[in-house]
Amino acid sequence: MSTEDKKYTSVHYSDYLALDKLLSAQNLRSEELGVPAHDEMLFIIVHQVYELWFKELIHDLESVLHSFEQGYVDERNIRVAVQRLNRITEIQKLLIDQLRVMETMTPLDFLDFRNYLFPASGFQSFQFRYVEVLLGLKSENRLTYNQAPYISVFSKEQREKLINLEAGKSMLEVVQDWLERTPFLEFKGFSFLPAYRGAVDRMITREKAAISQSSILTDEEKEMRIRMMGDTDSWFASVLDEKVHAQLMQEGKCKLSYRATVAALLINLYRDEPILQMPFMFINKLVDVDAMLTMWRYRHAQMVMRMLGRKIGTGGSSGYDYLQATAGKHHILSDFHNISTLLIPRSELPELPEDVKKGLNFYYSEKHKI
Ligand code: HEM
Repeated sequence: MSTEDKKYTSVHYSDYLALDKLLSAQNLRSEELGVPAHDEMLFIIVHQVYELWFKELIHDLESVLHSFEQGYVDERNIRVAVQRLNRITEIQKLLIDQLRVMETMTPLDFLDFRNYLFPASGFQSFQFRYVEVLLGLKSENRLTYNQAPYISVFSKEQREKLINLEAGKSMLEVVQDWLERTPFLEFKGFSFLPAYRGAVDRMITREKAAISQSSILTDEEKEMRIRMMGDTDSWFASVLDEKVHAQLMQEGKCKLSYRATVAALLINLYRDEPILQMPFMFINKLVDVDAMLTMWRYRHAQMVMRMLGRKIGTGGSSGYDYLQATAGKHHILSDFHNISTLLIPRSELPELPEDVKKGLNFYYSEKHKI
């Protein structure tokens, strides 16, 4: 039968979903070994459901990445990207919540079959690593254990896939390229950086004066606060001063290029302008995806502490300590979170010239004043 003929033939629910395969894929090791442990079924199903969701995450993330890697992003695609990222964060919420289902198994029940699992571990989840690499986590920024690269636990074919994926452009990189192309940093005679620099100077001078003149703070407290503001100054300098930013990049303290950082800042500050609304929502959703992944890491570590205490993992890591450390170290899009340091109140924002405002408005509403 040709594909054309096949199109409208009937299909059965169970065949369509390949339920035979799916429902016969729960093979309890404890049963095979003649010592059945009731909760192993839950353990397997929860992990399988995770892997299915990881598949969907990859499907959606790749589609967003591909729509950004062309060198030109159709504005219509940004709406689709926002929608897909939104779906991803909804799935991530489920992934975090699902750990509660896992926790209905008590640590003692887990011990009924844990010994049969060595050296299997979530550390060997190919799809989880694929998501991390797709988002932009680089090998050199990973925590390692057992003195072996993280890919050593995979088959040759899987290793090649991960290596090729990392060699290509990640989400962080395609978004960086897109941000670097933003035309609005120099737009219709308006130059964003000098205007922003002026506003920051005025704000910091005012804040320092307010601290110095405070009648509540002691001289020591004033000095300390002004010293602490110095740290904020250095963060501002990372945007205002390209050389400082280059130094931070070299030290691995930031990953996003100078121009892309400035563009992300502009989009954040002027997000109410019609043309910047979708790009803002996109960046915001991307930050959500990263934040949810970090939240999952913390939550998973917490569950591991509950299940295992300080026992080492089946994969050979220190267990809880290793997982807790990954939550901080494997934060992929932290540069977008750091943008908040650079935000200034709306009241301090340089007013955009009328012509620039018009340029950032929707063409139709500008023309017809609806
Ligand atoms: C009883 C439940 C669980 C326990 C006790 C547990 C324990 C651990 C431990 C100790 C590690 C560190 C690596 C090692 O030494 O093995 C780990 C890693 C991991 N686990 Fe779990 N886990 C549980 C459930 C889950 C579930 C339901 C998932 C969902 C897919 C999952 C996914 C992962 C992933 C992806 C890693 C690698 C994390 C990384 O290296 O950043 N785990 N797990």
